[in-house]
Amino acid sequence: MLINIVSAFPGLFQSVFDESMIKIAQEKDLVRIRIHDLRDFSDDRHRRVDDYPYGGGAGMVMKPEPFFKAVKTIQKKYPPKGKVILMSPQGLLLTQNKLKELSKEKNIILLCGHYEGIDERVRKYLVDEEISIGDYILTGGEIPAMVIADALIRLIPGVLNVSSLEEESFSKGLLEYPQFTRPREYEGMHVPEILLSGDHEKIRKWRAEKAFKRTLKRRPDLLQNKKITGNT
Ligand SMILES: C[S@@+](CC[C@H](N)C(=O)[O-])C[C@H]1O[C@@H](n2cnc3c(N)ncnc32)[C@H](O)[C@@H]1O
Repeated sequence: MLINIVSAFPGLFQSVFDESMIKIAQEKDLVRIRIHDLRDFSDDRHRRVDDYPYGGGAGMVMKPEPFFKAVKTIQKKYPPKGKVILMSPQGLLLTQNKLKELSKEKNIILLCGHYEGIDERVRKYLVDEEISIGDYILTGGEIPAMVIADALIRLIPGVLNVSSLEEESFSKGLLEYPQFTRPREYEGMHVPEILLSGDHEKIRKWRAEKAFKRTLKRRPDLLQNKKITGNT
């Protein structure tokens, strides 16, 4: 998979993709990440990518031309044409199901806004979809793009082992069961006996029950969705 990110602040990504699983995934050539500096596509001699809003109002708006040029250049350089996704608080809320869908793409282009927002023509004529990472406003689309890239990369076959993905929160419409590791006892706090029993069937049942109860208590909305959609 190729993940292209277009941003006016490419320096923000420097260390994030060079650690842990994401670094290993790149080393194994399971994913390629390309950060594109939006300012390289500006016609302005000062490399500006924003301007005052028509009609007045607070803040600056990102100009359309650099985004159109960046996408055209990327699509030409890295075929097949990647899906163009705008980071936007007005977009579809990101979910694990959405990520699963995106993980099937060969090539995606994530556009990061900044300032007061982006010229509406980008939204209307360039972008295939808009994604929000939550009902709050961030300074820019860089953190949302990192969130999407990180969450997507873990879903690429070969990056993690399949069983850890299958049992994770949201993968089956439930939160994950509680996890324990050594030591068995720490300052009077004990690991549940059943996990030490070696009885795999009992452990499986215990975990299923804990996952269900935890979901019921913390995220009953997930159980509701499960009923409606029949997701398992
Ligand atoms: C300060 S925000 C602009 C918000 C815009 N004025 C509005 O009210 O919808 C600047 C940029 O950050 C990104 N952004 C901010 N919050 C986001 C969120 N929750 N999810 C995804 N992107 C977000 C978007 O790319 C957005 O264009």
